Amino acid sequence: MLHSPTRWNTSITLTCALAMSVLAGCTKRGSKDPADPEDAPGKVEQKVAGALLFEQHCAKCHGALGQGKDDAPAVVGEEALSRFTTAQQLFDYVSKEMPQNAPGSLKEGEYWAILAFDLKANDIDLDETLGPQNASRYLLHAEGDKADDKADAARGDHTNDKVSSDINE
Ligand code: HEC
Repeated sequence: MLHSPTRWNTSITLTCALAMSVLAGCTKRGSKDPADPEDAPGKVEQKVAGALLFEQHCAKCHGALGQGKDDAPAVVGEEALSRFTTAQQLFDYVSKEMPQNAPGSLKEGEYWAILAFDLKANDIDLDETLGPQNASRYLLHAEGDKADDKADAARGDHTNDKVSSDINE
């Protein structure tokens, strides 16, 4: 009998905690700044924010569709971004050098959002929020295949075994 009030209290506490976290979730959602990586925007939210930021800060030189214009090279399209291998390399360059007329002037989260959008425009539609935690895993271009080939090659290293079995024959 002594235990039941305790259990009752525990369940009230849990219910409250749950309600609080739901409320906190709602509040946080409303005040979420998609440009703030600490706030970790959702993957869709991030791309939408990135599209707007691209339009505001990049499109006047790179074109509304990122197709390139005058001196500014394309950032969307087959040939685009060919000198970058990973999303992290792209971030390192863009966050330091762009917008060319005000380098480094955006917030870190704003750069990530723009890149998430730019990758999507290049048919790399990430299934998670882009950020420093995963950017070096994302290869631009078709280099994912090369990574696979390397993995195959590593596995194929067992060809040495075959040589020794040949010798055994
Ligand atoms: C004032 C014009 C201007 C603005 C605004 C601008 N850029 Fe650029 N951007 C350039 C020029 C010019 C280059 C070429 C620089 C070079 O090759 O040295 C460039 C190069 C780049 C490159 C490298 C492309 C490549 O393949 O070499 C990327 C990526 C890029 N910009 C992204 C952005 C993003 C993202 C924004 C918005 C945050 C932005 N730029 C805003 C003019 C601009």
